[in-house]
Amino acid sequence: MPDKKVLIVHYSQSGQLTEIVDNFAAGFSAAAVEKIKVRMQKEFDFPWTNERFFDAMPESVLGIPSALDSFQPKEESYDLIIFAYQPWFLSPSIPATSILANEEFRKRLKDTPIVTIIGARNMWLNSQEKVKKILTDCGAHLVGNIALTDKNNNLVSAVTILHWMLSGRKDSYLGIFPKPGIDDDLISGMDKFGKMVNESLHNNTWESLQKNLVKEGAVEVKSNLMFIEARAGKLFSIWANLIIKKKNRRLWLIFYKYYLFIALFVIAPIVLTVYMLIFKPFLVASIRKRKNYYLGLQ
Ligand SMILES: Cc1cc2nc3c(=O)[nH]c(=O)nc-3n(C[C@H](O)[C@H](O)[C@H](O)COP(=O)(O)O)c2cc1C
Repeated sequence: MPDKKVLIVHYSQSGQLTEIVDNFAAGFSAAAVEKIKVRMQKEFDFPWTNERFFDAMPESVLGIPSALDSFQPKEESYDLIIFAYQPWFLSPSIPATSILANEEFRKRLKDTPIVTIIGARNMWLNSQEKVKKILTDCGAHLVGNIALTDKNNNLVSAVTILHWMLSGRKDSYLGIFPKPGIDDDLISGMDKFGKMVNESLHNNTWESLQKNLVKEGAVEVKSNLMFIEARAGKLFSIWANLIIKKKNRRLWLIFYKYYLFIALFVIAPIVLTVYMLIFKPFLVASIRKRKNYYLGLQ
């Protein structure tokens, strides 16, 4: 039987998603896998400056692509495509959006099984909804989703990721905070998921893949983060639509930055406490339903 053809496409700034993808690919028979690490024509410098970091918000949220450096997969079609990406501001990152807008990529998505791999801080639900829509528009079949996240407390991981993104160092902030990003054990354990996807590819058992991935902990949905993200996603969209039209964009991005800090560190914890104590006990069934939705592929 000829080898199945597998394409793995990703972009990474710090190298975290590259490590995730490499460990995942180790679960496959190496000869069959083509890996493409995408570069941008105009690279996003890493580490970020404060200003450039927030400047990426409007285009990320509105899904406005930039030019890729070059993108030419070797084959005309594949038996499986793995699309690995990171969310920026609750939306696919600008590089991820740019890959999804690329005609060469879109052509190959048509009628092809797709597995998405997400390497996030902890909020990826909104961006995966956007990715799912684009995949459907391209005629692709999403057969699996793996989402790796930072398991630390939401506010702690917000501090540590900013330290990492603005310094370029994936180390403990002030020697007090935990290491930023996704835990090393989760990253090195990706080969297990690679093997599962490889098995489904060879046995053509895509229907049971996601259920098995969830069972093995490849995706987790936390109700407090789901609650925050649902609200923040809508608000980010309002900010992005407002800022994109402004001539004094820099000033508006400063307003947005302060809004974000207040929303994240002051408003969200208060609203969340009220929700957890007063409303959540009455919403058990609908929360479970929404969690199951995000764990699945629909
Ligand atoms: C500008 C920017 C915005 C981000 N926004 C989010 C976000 O909304 N949700 C999230 O879970 N992670 C967010 N992250 C973290 C990334 O998804 C990703 O985990 C991290 O940047 C490492 O990815 P890398 O492999 O490209 O270095 C953001 C990162 C950057 C640089």
